[in-house]
Amino acid sequence: MAASLRRPSFSASSSSSADPDDEGVRGTCEDASICKRFAVSLGYWHDPYIQHLVRLSKERKAPEINRGYFARVHGVSQLIKAFLQKTECHCQILNLGAGMDTTFWRLKDEDLLPSKYFEVDFPMIVTRKLHSIKHKPFLLQPIIELHSEDTLQIDGHLLDSKRYAIIGADLRDLPELEEKLKKYNMNPHNQGVAGVAGEGTEAQRDWTACCPRPHGLTAGKFQARIQTQAGRRRSTCSQAPSVTIRAT
Ligand SMILES: C[S@@+](CC[C@H](N)C(=O)[O-])C[C@H]1O[C@@H](n2cnc3c(N)ncnc32)[C@H](O)[C@@H]1O
Repeated sequence: MAASLRRPSFSASSSSSADPDDEGVRGTCEDASICKRFAVSLGYWHDPYIQHLVRLSKERKAPEINRGYFARVHGVSQLIKAFLQKTECHCQILNLGAGMDTTFWRLKDEDLLPSKYFEVDFPMIVTRKLHSIKHKPFLLQPIIELHSEDTLQIDGHLLDSKRYAIIGADLRDLPELEEKLKKYNMNPHNQGVAGVAGEGTEAQRDWTACCPRPHGLTAGKFQARIQTQAGRRRSTCSQAPSVTIRAT
């Protein structure tokens, strides 16, 4: 699988560049966030954090859109919780193409945080998210609470703390991605890792480079595969599960 990875050439400054060709892909962050924000405002699910990251659109969304986002958020959330329960939270979660996703805060509220939760998105998207976090105590406080003695690092392009990292990187630049994940203490070899890939990212394929034994899952199959993974873990014990979830 790894042999089919796309490895385009990047300039040294690829992580900070804002290629206009990627504008459409970055725009999917806005689309997804606005749809989720709207569905939350109608009570499709509870998310007190999204309002601090995303404005409420005046434009109404069709019920099919709201239901679709509900299904997606609920499905991914169930999968993440299953993984956390099977690993007793001794795992890491990597959210590729995280956009304005609020899973970190919602897991904290349920006392279900993994050892460390990582997010990756384009630097421009990360900068927007970090701006909100820095200026909204409702978002910042939960991160500070968990932080204890280590130094919380937060600037325009990066947040790194004991349990949460938000990293600006282009998922197509695998060497850069791997280097950054390593720098912020992701260890795919010692602990189970669940990767959540935002749709449209092709990240499931790219993710195979970072994870020793990944398994691609589609929404329809995820439950069965999680059980298989958990079974394997029970039977081998020394091998922590590693799962890639793809929100389709
Ligand atoms: C459809 S949005 C989903 C956002 C988020 N996961 C959610 O559910 O709200 C896809 C996200 O993937 C990000 N993305 C797509 N291609 C990327 C790439 N090559 N590098 C980094 N991020 C990428 C976009 O910026 C966007 O935030």
